[in-house]
Amino acid sequence: MHHHPRTPSLAIPALAALFALAAATACKGEDPSGDDEAGESDTHGDHGDHGDHGDHGDTGEALVTFWQDVAPIYYESCVSCHREGGIGPFVLDDYATASTWAAASAHAVDNRVMPPWLVTSDGSCGEWADSRALDQEQIDTILAWVEDGTPEGTPRDDLSVPELPGLDVVSDEVHTPEFIPEPEGGVFSEFDEYRCFLIDPELDADTFMTGYEVFPGNEALVHHALLIPVSPEGESDIPGMSNAEVMTALDEESPDRLGWPCFGLAGEGVAAEGVPVTWAPGQGVVEFPDDSGYRVGAGDQYVVQMHYNMANTALIGQSDSTAIRLRYADEVAKQGYFDVPDGFLDTLFEDPVALPVGEDAVSFTWEVPTDWYIAPGSEQTQLWGFFPHMHDYGVSLTARILDPEGQEVACVGDVPRWDFGWQLYYFYEQPIALLPGHRIEVTCTYDTTGSPEPIYPGWGTHNEMCLAGLYFVP
Ligand code: HEC
Repeated sequence: MHHHPRTPSLAIPALAALFALAAATACKGEDPSGDDEAGESDTHGDHGDHGDHGDHGDTGEALVTFWQDVAPIYYESCVSCHREGGIGPFVLDDYATASTWAAASAHAVDNRVMPPWLVTSDGSCGEWADSRALDQEQIDTILAWVEDGTPEGTPRDDLSVPELPGLDVVSDEVHTPEFIPEPEGGVFSEFDEYRCFLIDPELDADTFMTGYEVFPGNEALVHHALLIPVSPEGESDIPGMSNAEVMTALDEESPDRLGWPCFGLAGEGVAAEGVPVTWAPGQGVVEFPDDSGYRVGAGDQYVVQMHYNMANTALIGQSDSTAIRLRYADEVAKQGYFDVPDGFLDTLFEDPVALPVGEDAVSFTWEVPTDWYIAPGSEQTQLWGFFPHMHDYGVSLTARILDPEGQEVACVGDVPRWDFGWQLYYFYEQPIALLPGHRIEVTCTYDTTGSPEPIYPGWGTHNEMCLAGLYFVP
């Protein structure tokens, strides 16, 4: 089960393959009545007649009301998205709409589908910074409100809608060019195109990237975006050529189209040191923790790798231009590094492991030694962030640290219900110390009952991944 250390060239496709599957994540709940299983059956049809619940009154029990009990939870945990101009499909800051959506909301919170936050947050695995997860008492309050028939209570105006989420400081905003992708074909990218574009941020001094936010121009088309700083004068992976020379050669291969193909990280032969921006659907704002930043050198250029997916053939012929907002700092307390190990994808380069069809829970486990991430001479490194990633057959993912005897010493993260539409980078309240001789173990579980044939790791819609992005601050 132990997989060999990856060479950088193996790591690269692993990263490039992020998010190969479509985010068919359009609003799942356009029609409130479409969520009929939501809530208990006795709440059905109660919307609107909340003034008529004498039964509780008779027993003297206080009703759970919207304004007194539920609104404080909604304003804190839902309204940042479910508001006018927010990304949620309806608002939850007004009583009328909130009560229309009450049964669906009860169902969503009870199943921990909303607020979107995939990692277990009850303290059993990781202490997360800025966790969005509701605690059980809050969930019970929402359920009780719906059971009580969604009474309004006494309207109040002391609750305020939080500011729209966004980077507090936008130091730069870069854009990929308006581009019309074309499916490349082949087993690993039947409906996809991976294209790299060169952007010059014109940095005349070293700087530190401390956060980012990505805005796809055409959400249906864009399945991931990576930003990779590259030193143009730096040595490429091709002997005797600089990165700039390699990129120019790649670009000239398709003079009639912008950019170049890049199933590798920044393109075949381009030496890339790291990927400070990895965006996928649902991500929102990312701010690196602990006053840390990713160092970008003066004169570095950005290669932006775009993954366009056209499994929906109606998208062929459409264009995209994606915006990436970046926050910089001249100085940070600590320098951070990103890696994206995926021991399942790595089997492609040795002895590909296929997931058998027709199983509702088939697992794959891989591990990497912590020593990879501990600088020579230092006694430990600190793990600050975790980015779980699978495709559409993925059901759950869990990662932990094992000592040399195989005992668990720390829990990295646990995703009980994977959702491709919400790919967040999770950061810890306190970092996890990685000690020499330990191992990071990752297990992914898939449901392959929907697949006509065995599922191989890979890039395309019919392939799978088992990736654990990691953010280290030594
Ligand atoms: C980070 C933004 C965000 C937050 C926070 C959030 N939502 Fe949502 N919500 C969305 C988006 C976007 C959708 C539509 C896509 C989807 O269903 O994933 C959605 C969908 C829903 C749906 C429809 C789901 C369905 O299956 O029909 C309900 C109900 C809902 N949210 C309730 C809530 C409640 C209640 C909260 C707070 C306890 C909340 N949401 C917090 C963004 C958010």
